[in-house]
Amino acid sequence: MSRLSVRHLTGIAPLSDADIHALLERARALKAARGNPASFADRLKGKIILNVFYEDSTRTRNSFEIAAKRLGAEVVTWDKGTSSAKKGETFADTILNLNAMGPDAIVLRHSEYGAPEFVAKRVACPVINAGDSWREHPTQALLDALTILEAKGRLEGVTVAICGDVSHSRVAGSNMLLLPRLGVKVRIVAPPSLMPQTLPGPGVERFTSLEEGLRAADIVMMLRIQKERMEASEVPSDDAYFTQYGLTPARLALAAPDAFVMHPGPMNRGVEIADEVADDPQRSLILKQVENGVFVRMAAMDLLLGS
Ligand code: NCD
Repeated sequence: MSRLSVRHLTGIAPLSDADIHALLERARALKAARGNPASFADRLKGKIILNVFYEDSTRTRNSFEIAAKRLGAEVVTWDKGTSSAKKGETFADTILNLNAMGPDAIVLRHSEYGAPEFVAKRVACPVINAGDSWREHPTQALLDALTILEAKGRLEGVTVAICGDVSHSRVAGSNMLLLPRLGVKVRIVAPPSLMPQTLPGPGVERFTSLEEGLRAADIVMMLRIQKERMEASEVPSDDAYFTQYGLTPARLALAAPDAFVMHPGPMNRGVEIADEVADDPQRSLILKQVENGVFVRMAAMDLLLGS
């Protein structure tokens, strides 16, 4: 039985404020209990989580798998490369067949807009969105919020500049919905060609100049150029992009003196971010984000499936 107001985690949009707080609180509690893994090791004992990833993933897939196993669940990974998708089976048929095997939850990554809702309508178990198209990646936004909260000690009034290819980024999509609801001042900073025409929610300021968008920001969140979601003619050259939009130490100096740097990964070093910034142990939260991802995903599975 879900302890959230929703049965599925398809995006930030359907979550209530109470759901968001419950997820962040549960993630913090699980992290605080990490030294005593026996305290949560049986939460999902006997459950089987099915990972269905139609797109490549390093962080998200392994993070969900580790999170599930930390809670005592077993994980089955559907592999696109060796599946019957290659033999012409439709997505709907694949989903109906996987559902017939009775998994306790499906973690889905898919390139189609709204794929998690499509699946949620057809299966008997909770569906967790691990990223769909350029729309939503809710657990990423939640782990970003947790990381900002830990780094700054608060969310209310913190200024976050989300910079780069905003228009193709589901990470930006979910963060633009989540962070303003937590009192964060969100700026999106993108060249005109990578700036979304419409924003998913209110409370977001736009900048096309990186220098202006970075000014006095507390958190600088860099995004990868999602070349796989662009026409070849739209893809800027790596060097030209770095010159205009790459985060260098000099540009980071425009942000608040104690600003932190975030990136959802995978990073393209020398394209959107310089090595010195990515690897700066004082400023970079990039591996903290990955660490927190496990606790956020544990929280999501625990609240959706745990007793
Ligand atoms: C992102 C994704 O796949 O949405 N990565 C992630 O999940 N941490 C961002 C990206 O692909 O650039």
